[in-house]
Amino acid sequence: MALRTLISEERIQTRIREIAAQIDTDYPEGTLYLVCILKGACFFLADLARAVRRDTYLDFMSISSYGKEKTSSGEVKIIKDLDISLEGADVLIVEDIIDTGITLNYLTALLKTRRPKSVRVAALLDKTSRRVRPVDAAYVGFEIPDEFVVGYGLDFAEKYRNLREVCVLEPE
Ligand code: PRP
Repeated sequence: MALRTLISEERIQTRIREIAAQIDTDYPEGTLYLVCILKGACFFLADLARAVRRDTYLDFMSISSYGKEKTSSGEVKIIKDLDISLEGADVLIVEDIIDTGITLNYLTALLKTRRPKSVRVAALLDKTSRRVRPVDAAYVGFEIPDEFVVGYGLDFAEKYRNLREVCVLEPE
């Protein structure tokens, strides 16, 4: 298998700074609760949280791994839930990629039941052509084609997550 760079480190970091500036404009005051969906979003969370100029709380949620536990009803199994209460909070769900939309469609609805002030989604990558369930993402880094991507948090059998760029994994 060979790696072909799809989005360079520089483009990723530039786009994250743009998104962070937009977030700073959109949320006038108060603490922003950043909810990272493990594992893929860990680098996006780390870079986005440090690019925004406001107070943040960070928390992490772990859900069942890709494709395995997703039922046709769109229910997603939660392996590790949040530690903090979201009541009255401005919540931003931080994801690496929106694919079918099943995960974020479910999680957005779930977190809204916890009486937050607001819930929005920030996703670095969006494979819009794959959508099965609607997701209203306020912040999207890049729309990408339906190719197998790794790097910047995304894996193939747990490998390649630490690449600084997003790459397409393709046969040689
Ligand atoms: C990926 C990604 C999202 C989900 C998106 O996670 O981080 O959580 O899949 O897919 P969907 O839109 O089709 O629901 P994955 O299950 O690969 O877990 P990981 O982040 O731990 O690698």
